[in-house]
Amino acid sequence: MQRPIGIFDSGIGGLTVASAIQQSMPGEALLYFGDTAHMPYGDKSEDAIRYYCIRIAQFLMKQNAKVIVIACNTASSIAFKVVEDFVDGKIPVINVIYPVVDWITQNHSNGRIGVIGTKGTIRSGIYEKLILEHSPNANVQSLATPLLAPMIEEGFFNNNISATVLNSYLSNRKLQKIDSLVLACTHYPLIKKEINQFYQGKIDIVDSAGLVASHTKAILEARGLLSPTKRPRHHFFVSDYTQAFEKSAKMFFGNKVSLTESNFWG
Ligand code: DGL
Repeated sequence: MQRPIGIFDSGIGGLTVASAIQQSMPGEALLYFGDTAHMPYGDKSEDAIRYYCIRIAQFLMKQNAKVIVIACNTASSIAFKVVEDFVDGKIPVINVIYPVVDWITQNHSNGRIGVIGTKGTIRSGIYEKLILEHSPNANVQSLATPLLAPMIEEGFFNNNISATVLNSYLSNRKLQKIDSLVLACTHYPLIKKEINQFYQGKIDIVDSAGLVASHTKAILEARGLLSPTKRPRHHFFVSDYTQAFEKSAKMFFGNKVSLTESNFWG
C-alpha cells in the first residue's frame, strides 16, 4: 500500500503547501489534516499548540504517513521540536520555516526584510533569530497581522474587505522601505496577488509553499521514500466540518475531494 505524505495546519493555509507538493510530486498520495476546531492557532497558548500538534502527529502516524509536513508557521515555530521528539526519528518531520530562512539568507543577506505572521509566530521571534544567525547584516522587521488568517479562512480574499485590512497592516511604519517580505503564515499565499499589488511588484514576496515542496521532495528522495503511482488517492480530514474548508480544498484539488470530519480530541 502506498504510504501518504502527512500534512497539517489549523485550517486551509496548509493547502497552499499541499498543492505545491502535489505539483512537485504528482504521483504521491496526500493525507491532510486541518484542525479547524482550533483555528486560529495564532492566538492560542504555546502549551495548547504543542498539545494539538502532538495529537495530530499521532493521528498522521496511525494513518501510516511516511513524513510529517508541519504546514503552519505558528505550529512550526512553537511545536517543531516537540513533534520531532514525539516522532522519535521514525519518520522525517519538516517545518515551513527552515527552507524560507535558507532562501532569504541566500538572496537577501544585506536587505531590509519584512516578516508578517500570526501573533504566535511573531512573538516567537524565530525568523529574526535564524535570519540574523546566518546574515548578521540583514535588517529584519516583524509585524503580527492577526486578522489575516481568520479573514482568509472565512473566504475573504480578493475583495474590498481584504484590500482594506491589508492596506492598514502593510502601511505600518515598520514595513517601510523593505526590499523583501516573508509571508510567514501559510494562509497568506492566498492573498499574495493583493500584497504584490500593494507593492506594485517592486519587492520580492516570499512564501513557503514551493520551497517546502522542493525540500520535502529532496528529503524523501534522499531516504528512498518516494513511491509515485498513476492515480494517487488524497484524503482530507478536519476536526470540525466547515463549508469554507471544503470550498478551498476543491479550489486546489478539484471537485473529487474526499473530506472526513475526525474529531479525536475527546
Ligand atoms: N496557517 C497558519 C500559520 O502558518 C495558522 C494561522 C492560524 O491558525 O492562526 O501560522
